[in-house]
Parts: sequence; structure tokens; C-alpha cells
Amino acid sequence: MALDAFRDELAATAAALSAPGTGLLAADESTATIGKRFAAIGLENSEANRRSYRSLLASAPELAEAISGVILFEETLFQDSVSEVGEPGPPIVTLFEQQGIIPGIKVDQGVESLAGGLAGESWCTGLKGLSERAARYYARGARFAKWRAVLRISSVGCPSELAVRENAWGLARYARTVQEQGLVPIVEPEILMDGDHDIATTASVQEWVLRTVYEALAVNGVFLEGSLLKPSMTLAGADCPERPGLEEVGAFTVRTLSRSVPAAVPAILFLSGGLSEEDASLCLNAINQAAAEGFAPWHLGFSFGRALQHSCLKHWNGTDRQAGQAALLARARANGAASRGAYAAGTEPSDDASLFVADYSY
Ligand code: 13P
Repeated sequence: MALDAFRDELAATAAALSAPGTGLLAADESTATIGKRFAAIGLENSEANRRSYRSLLASAPELAEAISGVILFEETLFQDSVSEVGEPGPPIVTLFEQQGIIPGIKVDQGVESLAGGLAGESWCTGLKGLSERAARYYARGARFAKWRAVLRISSVGCPSELAVRENAWGLARYARTVQEQGLVPIVEPEILMDGDHDIATTASVQEWVLRTVYEALAVNGVFLEGSLLKPSMTLAGADCPERPGLEEVGAFTVRTLSRSVPAAVPAILFLSGGLSEEDASLCLNAINQAAAEGFAPWHLGFSFGRALQHSCLKHWNGTDRQAGQAALLARARANGAASRGAYAAGTEPSDDASLFVADYSY
């Protein structure tokens, strides 16, 4: 079996991505999504601007102190960098590798409406040709992959059993497929913050979702030691009138995970899901503090997109690379500390805006 040839390498990659005090930079926004970010700073969504921005990320000094891996969009994996003064440079992926940051690649091809599902439910596409694409990404230096399945909680009965099963199965087929090509799968069953449900509801839905995901991974023979989980934190819906405190978020998240994620999984790297930069760090910190008191055999880190890049984009503003890098490093350091349960509120700067967008698509 092809997977057997990669077992040791997969476990080593997953362990490197689970280093204490680190997490991932999710910079895999699709061309449409990065366009929305650029629009917020009045910048054209051109290839040159995307190249310049991702070159900023890849050349940020000392990023590797808190960032073990970076998730890229396909364009970036094959794109050359550009220097601050506009000179052509080495491939962007090489700049990350030179820093000791492991490159990864988003391999899903987005979500589509789920026939037979409830309003707003989706399934995640991208299995066709995945094996060949994964081999090509590995040859270019990628060592891990990401696939984002999306579920929602709503008063009309979401998630339906159909949505839970379909998305779990898709994640498992993807994970098995990329492992056979040497890529560590990040398994991402996101539960959106949209809705007015309370934190206890999120916890029970998330236990069901994760249980179903790990059943599907088992049926597909996914090698857990060579895989990573990227879940949402266990939070109340964005419109829930009762706002849980940080301790509650920590306790609920650790309880949910301890009930449903096998101990063989080396790390759980949370998505930020629309939390503000500071809130994402504080919640991650609270989760690690709760874990220190309970059962948590995994590294509990981060794989943030918006909560690592929001200030960075704003300070860069299309031209000021050093200001963008300083903002990125500040949030990377904050989240590195939070991964150890050692982040003190407000000790790193941020633009403390809510990044929540209803029906967010990546
Ligand atoms: P956010 O941290 O912005 O939720 O994104 C992480 C990600 O990669 C979602 O797939």
C-alpha cells in the first residue's frame, strides 16, 4: 500500500507541525476571498498584489518562532516572490522553507449546495483528480494539506444527519487520498458561528460531528498519527444573548474534544472563525489553561487565517511591508504564547475588530 511507504514521514511531519508554542498561518484564501480582503484596504485584486502580499508573509523575519507551517493557495505554491523594492525573488515556497516553515496546500475546491440537505447546507468538492494534484503539490514541496467542510447550526434542524455524514465522509476520503501521496491531512469540520444557539448546543453538535468524522476516518484507514484536526472552538452562536466567559469556552472546548478526538492525533489546531484577533488569542489561551487541568493528550495550537492577518493587511495597506510584518509577528507571538496557556491579555497589539462575516466562505 502506498500509505505504508509514507507512515514514518507523515508522523514526522505531523509532529513538526505540532511543536509546542507554535501553530499554522492559514494564508490559503482563494482568489475571490483575498479579493475581499484587498477591497477592505482599497487594493486591486491583481496577481502582482497577491504576489507582493504573500511575499511579505514569507519574508517576515522570525516568523518561525511561533509558526511551524503555512497553508497556501495553489497559485502561491507555484508563484515566485518579489522583494520589497519590486525585484524578482525565489519561489515564495522557498522563502518559507528557508525559515523552517513547512508549506501546506488547500486542496478542496470549495463547497456546493447539498442536494437533499436543509437550507444553507453544503458539501465540499475536490475529490476528482485529488491524487494527481496531491502528487504534484508534494513534488513542489508541500507536506500537508487542508480540506474545509462547513456545517451550520440552526433552528430549522441544521446540521442534518445527511450533512454531517456527507461532510465526514468527504473529509475521510480526502485524508486517505492525500496520505497516500505523502501529505498530512488537516481535517477541518468547521461549525459556523452563525446563529443564536448557546454554547451547550454547540458542544453537543460538535461531539456528534467529531464522532462521525473519526468513525469515517477509521473506515477509510486514515493513519491518525499522521493527521491533524482543525476544528472550531466550542463557542456560542454569534447572535446568542448569553455570552460565555473565557473559562467556560476553555472548559467546553476541552470537554468536547476529550469526548470525541482520539489520543493518537498529535495536534488540534483551531480556526479563528470570525473572532477578533485578541479574542482568538484569549480563547486559545483559555483552552490551554483548561487543558492543563483536564484530559488533553494533544498539542492545542492554532491555524488562524483572519485572526493572524487582519492587522497585517491593514498596516501593510498595499505598500508598507515592514509595518505589515510587524503586525503579523505580534499576532504570531500572541498565539504562540496562547498555545502554551501563557498569553496575557493586551500584551501584543491588534486591531480589535470583530472579523465575523455571516455565511463566510473561504
Ligand atoms: P479563519 O481562522 O479565518 O477562520 O480561517 C482559517 C481557515 O483556514 C479556514 O479554513
